Amino acid sequence: MKWTLFIGAMCMAAATAAAAGDSGVTWTLFPVADTGAEAAGKAAFQNACQICHGAGPDRPGTTSLQFKYGGQRPALLEERNDLTAQVVKYYIRHGIAMMPSFRKTELSDAQADAIAEYLSKKR
Ligand code: HEC
Repeated sequence: MKWTLFIGAMCMAAATAAAAGDSGVTWTLFPVADTGAEAAGKAAFQNACQICHGAGPDRPGTTSLQFKYGGQRPALLEERNDLTAQVVKYYIRHGIAMMPSFRKTELSDAQADAIAEYLSKKR
């Protein structure tokens, strides 16, 4: 009787773990479908560009662009409405001044496309 209870409890634990595991797999397999292309671009931007192009005083990209345009254009890339996807991809692959170029092993074409799409959406 004791063994039956023990085995039953083990089966329930295993079934619970499997159910939890299944929902985890569904989430990790389809994150892009769930979040959409714009969110993917934003996430990639936050990952690769935010460190220099985010808001705040200690962001060299934002500070340089503030200086470069003297307020004629927003210093934040995410607030620009004049950037085309082509231009963004050019800067990603070639860099400029102290901005490094990103190799395809660092930032895939799909990620670069998503960022370019995200930054040019206001155009
Ligand atoms: C190490 C810091 C750094 C990182 C990381 C960085 N940038 Fe930059 N970026 C800069 C700086 C600095 C400039 C301004 C150069 C200048 O003075 O012309 C710049 C300029 C640009 C420009 C040109 C804007 C203009 O009007 O001249 C674009 C577009 C751009 N970055 C996009 C990106 C994207 C997209 C990413 C992420 C994939 C990124 N940058 C990552 C530092 C960075």
